Amino acid sequence: MKINLISDTVAHPTPGMLDAMMRAEVGDDVFKEDPTVNALEEKVAEMFGMEAALFFPSGTMTNQTAIKLHTQPGDQLICDKYAHVYNYEGGGASFNSGVSCKLVDGDRGMMSVSQVEEAINPPDFYHSPRTALVCIENTTNKGGGACWDVAALRKIKSLCTTNGLAYHLDGARIWNAIVAGAIDPKTCGELFDTISVCLSKGLGCPVGSLLIGAEPLIEEAIRIRKILGGGMRQSGYLAAAGIYALDNHIDRLAEDHTKAKELGELLTAQDWVSYVAPVETNILIFELNEKLISTEVFMDRLKTEDIHIIGMGGGKLRMVTHLDYTNAMHDKVVSVLSKIA
Ligand SMILES: Cc1ncc(COP(=O)(O)O)c(C=O)c1O
Repeated sequence: MKINLISDTVAHPTPGMLDAMMRAEVGDDVFKEDPTVNALEEKVAEMFGMEAALFFPSGTMTNQTAIKLHTQPGDQLICDKYAHVYNYEGGGASFNSGVSCKLVDGDRGMMSVSQVEEAINPPDFYHSPRTALVCIENTTNKGGGACWDVAALRKIKSLCTTNGLAYHLDGARIWNAIVAGAIDPKTCGELFDTISVCLSKGLGCPVGSLLIGAEPLIEEAIRIRKILGGGMRQSGYLAAAGIYALDNHIDRLAEDHTKAKELGELLTAQDWVSYVAPVETNILIFELNEKLISTEVFMDRLKTEDIHIIGMGGGKLRMVTHLDYTNAMHDKVVSVLSKIA
């Protein structure tokens, strides 16, 4: 039994999801004639209380489109040093939009209001890049699935309004924050100019992300998606998976959270573990006490049991619970970890 905890993106579509995909009514979405894609876009826009949404093949493309929408070449965006838009999108902010990132040294991927305020370049000081955009990630990936405090998000929103900055949410795992009770979709819709959400992480879809925002922004996003090569044809088969996931796979994320918390508690009790980040959702980040067990030995030990986890650099290890991580798998992981001395 292979147990893959490297990411929630490894989850497969369920039989119910595959069935919904097989039965989808489709058309050519580049002509906006795919009824299932149109239905998914409407459903997601409605859920977040925003005017419109647009279906994309990946979270990277939704974030990159948002950056392009909100900036001009030479501008700067503000994000945490752990942000996916900075670390894991292949340098797309500079490649696609010609913008630089001002990195903030936040806590578990979350910036404080004063850090954001300090990072804004004075608009009349033409030696510095013009600050145009603030990017938030909720939940934070490299930050260990942490959920933002809504009060902080509101204060940053008011900074954005005062300084004429756009406000984008990388909500690849916003479903986890919602299930954890940290925020609700309508509040996200009120706060942000654009939101990207992923269907292909904890929700188990094979493909799919959406960008959500006001009508004029989403109309312009269609052009950018086309330029980036993200216009899809009979993508209703994929959108059907998304509709199914939204109806059936959101509430169950709580099970992933419970398992991650149990693993976190187990690791905290081990002397060979030096640090466990607070577990708020489905991501667990920890460090080993290298005097007692090296990363190499630990990873090999897990691999011999067919348990796979991932290193995040700087001695940090990550486990992510998800739809395919069953109770039987969880029992085995608990048993294997308990026996490591
Ligand atoms: C926080 C965050 N944003 C964006 C993405 C990008 O999604 P994709 O892999 O679909 O491009 C990921 C992927 O893991 C992510 O974790």
